[in-house]
Amino acid sequence: MKVLLTGAAGQLGQALRQQLPEGVELIATSRSGGGADRSLLHLNLADAGACRAAVHEHKPAWVLNAGAYTAVDQAESEPDLALAVNGGAPRAFAEALLDTGGRLLQVSTDFVFNGRQGSPYRPDQPRDPLGSYGRSKAAGEEAVEQLLGGSGRAVILRTSWVIGPVGKNFALTMLRLHREREQIGVVADQVGCPTSTATLAAACWRVISANLQEPVLHWSDAGAASWFDVAVAVGELAQELGLLERMAMVTPLTTAEYPLPAQRPSYSLLDCSGSRRTLGLAPTPWRQALRRLLEGVG
Ligand SMILES: NC(=O)c1ccc[n+]([C@@H]2O[C@H](COP(=O)([O-])OP(=O)(O)OC[C@H]3O[C@@H](n4cnc5c(N)ncnc54)[C@H](OP(=O)(O)O)[C@@H]3O)[C@@H](O)[C@H]2O)c1
Repeated sequence: MKVLLTGAAGQLGQALRQQLPEGVELIATSRSGGGADRSLLHLNLADAGACRAAVHEHKPAWVLNAGAYTAVDQAESEPDLALAVNGGAPRAFAEALLDTGGRLLQVSTDFVFNGRQGSPYRPDQPRDPLGSYGRSKAAGEEAVEQLLGGSGRAVILRTSWVIGPVGKNFALTMLRLHREREQIGVVADQVGCPTSTATLAAACWRVISANLQEPVLHWSDAGAASWFDVAVAVGELAQELGLLERMAMVTPLTTAEYPLPAQRPSYSLLDCSGSRRTLGLAPTPWRQALRRLLEGVG
């Protein structure tokens, strides 16, 4: 089965390539592809024509759209680029797949919700993003639903707070700060759940191998945490694993005390209960997934 993967050099993309199931012929693409890394094909997600052409050329059974404009704060000053990548590319893939007959797995985010309801979001709840990144990802979801929704040929898989042993993410940033500083201030009034690229990649491949028809799925690791909780856990686990001699003192901050360009949902936990049953995958408690991730850090 042929799968066209985008964002193959990103943190999820790398985990997806590591877990490649037998029988999948992967066409791995990235913005940097075609250069030094000959195993990746070049595909610019901001170029809708190129996205359509890639589908027409390769005629994949699935497009796995893991690539995205993920710089949440920068998206506030580059809304057009964020929208082109996160809204335009899924639209272009869906348009081309209407011609070729393939299916789309669109990876999306908890940031399509406003975070105000104070309880976990179900997959069928309405979108109400707060910032430019969330709006651009919501636009991608809407396009996919408009074009492929009725056909059962698209799955939107929302996830949250993605962390992995490579790339740019909160866990690796905290590991570095624990090494460099005596004290770290971290926001404690935003609650969600970390998701390791390892468990997320397994969920993505399960959607494809089981040929699931579910329109929207939610996937995160199990439990709930604030960014403060995750920062403390990174320090504790890294010490246990011998990655740190001593951890920094972690101080809880309010969102107001740590202003950033983009407004974030204060409570963006995803209700994954139904999706876990649909996927047939057992949840991994987030601290356990974080421990495994840190074991893989070089
Ligand atoms: N990270 C999170 O906390 C989080 C949370 C919820 C959902 N998600 C979703 O999960 C998915 C995977 O995210 P991730 O954490 O793996 O992000 P990531 O590590 O930032 O990877 C995203 C990849 O997309 C690529 N990309 C960006 N703009 C592109 C363009 N114009 N053309 C081609 N490729 C482009 C990036 O390429 P470069 O390497 O060249 O920059 C990068 O390799 C995304 O759909 C994201 O929205 C992420």
